[in-house]
Amino acid sequence: MLPMFQRGRRWERFQHARTEADALIYDTIDERRADGEGERAGTAGTARGLANGDRDDVLAMLLAARHEDGSPMTPVELRDELMTLLVAGHETTASELAWAFERLSRTPDVLDRLTAEIDSGDGDAYVTATVYETLRRRPVLPNAAPRLVMEPVEVGGWRYEPGVCLIADAYLLHHDPDVYDDPYAFRPERFVDEQPGTYTWIPFGGGRRRCLGASFAMLEMKIVLRAVLAHHELALPGPEDEGARRRGITLSPGGGTRTVLRARGESRVPAAA
Ligand code: HEM
Repeated sequence: MLPMFQRGRRWERFQHARTEADALIYDTIDERRADGEGERAGTAGTARGLANGDRDDVLAMLLAARHEDGSPMTPVELRDELMTLLVAGHETTASELAWAFERLSRTPDVLDRLTAEIDSGDGDAYVTATVYETLRRRPVLPNAAPRLVMEPVEVGGWRYEPGVCLIADAYLLHHDPDVYDDPYAFRPERFVDEQPGTYTWIPFGGGRRRCLGASFAMLEMKIVLRAVLAHHELALPGPEDEGARRRGITLSPGGGTRTVLRARGESRVPAAA
């Protein structure tokens, strides 16, 4: 953190929030350790199959993990991993899913085709393409890959000196008409027979520091979309697209994707909003 930001009321609020969040996380770690979890290496859930009463969540695996010298992870290391999962893993995927529902409820023909694929039980080409297209059209981290220049480098005829921060902007790239035909249309069809390109689709950044959770995030999104659309239909919330607002580190739908969810095949009484 730059020292210039480490003062004033916002900094105090941030510190207070961080202390509260840390206390919750450390309490959970202490409780689980007090239950005897993680005393033996590699006993967590999926690592060796589930024994009776063993938990199989992420914390259980981290508690059971060992460093190369055989030592367990320290509370600070555990806290850092859990905080990374929460900030890098939860906020991003949740916001991206909110955009998926926002786009779907405003693009009925896509929603119909997706629902038909889910109902048919025949593969997942269209749901995968829908996830790709959501990530293209609404990247939640548009400044996807910031890089600090360490030694002079030339990009596109421009020379950059050490200390400069270069940012590949996913939003601009994803809406470049030279790269994507009709770039502002929400059209999963573009990814049905063609995989997104490494250098033309960068919602997860790229290169060595590309998002570690990319495959996991896409799997989560597909599972949630299927689970919701198998049993519910979305009603059009209104003709206007939702604008974006910053939420934590991500860009999320400005109105929180309010939509009407109806149980499929039932009366037109909303099941939940
Ligand atoms: C739709 C959901 C997600 C999006 C859009 C997203 C996006 C990104 C982006 C743009 C970066 C920076 C990549 C770069 O600098 O080249 C990143 C890094 C990272 N992401 Fe994600 N992410 C998502 C989900 C997740 C999940 C589910 C996890 C973990 C379970 C995760 C863990 C990480 C980690 C650990 C890094 C840092 C990688 C490094 O610096 O080596 N992300 N993510």
